[in-house]
Amino acid sequence: MNESIEKRELINRGKAKSVYATDDPDRLILEFRDDTSAFDGAKTAQLAGKGVINNRFNAFIMERLEAAGIPTHFERLLSDHESLVKRLDMFPIECVVRNLTAGSICRRLGVPEGMDLEPPVFEFFLKNDELHDPMINEYHIRAFHWATDAQVAAMKDLTFRVNEVLKKLFADAGLLLVDYKLEFGDYHGQVVLGDEFTPDGCRLWDAKTRAKLDKDRFRQGLGGVVEAYQEVARRIGVPLD
Ligand code: TMP
Ligand code: ASP
Repeated sequence: MNESIEKRELINRGKAKSVYATDDPDRLILEFRDDTSAFDGAKTAQLAGKGVINNRFNAFIMERLEAAGIPTHFERLLSDHESLVKRLDMFPIECVVRNLTAGSICRRLGVPEGMDLEPPVFEFFLKNDELHDPMINEYHIRAFHWATDAQVAAMKDLTFRVNEVLKKLFADAGLLLVDYKLEFGDYHGQVVLGDEFTPDGCRLWDAKTRAKLDKDRFRQGLGGVVEAYQEVARRIGVPLD
């Protein structure tokens, strides 16, 4: 993949990323913007430097996952804000794994934040902002034909394999991987990890102090959002310049 690639039309402008077509029907360009959104778009802001750091953070994590045998859409960094990826046919589903309680599980089940979950909890959500990403299960996925049983099994297996790789990667940097959300798509018959892995879509706490170093700083108005992402990136060894 060293040949030059031509950026074509905007296909989708998401809350934090834009997706562009290329001259290769099998490749897309992801642009990581500084836009930050929470609560399904109800709270938004521009955070200077977030796009650059998330682009590099995502590249670093995707390369680690590939090296561990997990198929991802990531191909290469193109610029400060852009990455080249494979074009997947995305499932409208979010796969969440939780190692500790935080966020919606606390509200839903009335449990305190920070309880260990052993074994980890797996949850599916429907990707739909208007409906506030409702929780769904495998019966919904089957009945509405959002994915086949084999694709569901592959998504669950890959999401748990990501947990093993990333729990260790973050633990080695003194960080707890509290929870994370992954999205998958079909690439010529194979279930492949798409979207992104950045502190926008996971929770990371300092292992000693349990300080929040992820998008909860934005959701909860704690400040220092980009600084926290930089701290995590520095600790795990993401090249930042
Ligand atoms: P939750 O506690 O809000 O259900 O989120 C669990 C994890 O998944 C948390 O790290 C945030 C991430 N997530 C997203 O990034 N986007 C989403 O739309 C959802 C539902 C979760
Ligand atoms: N990612 C979703 C949003 O941007 C949900 C969240 O992170 O709170 O609105």
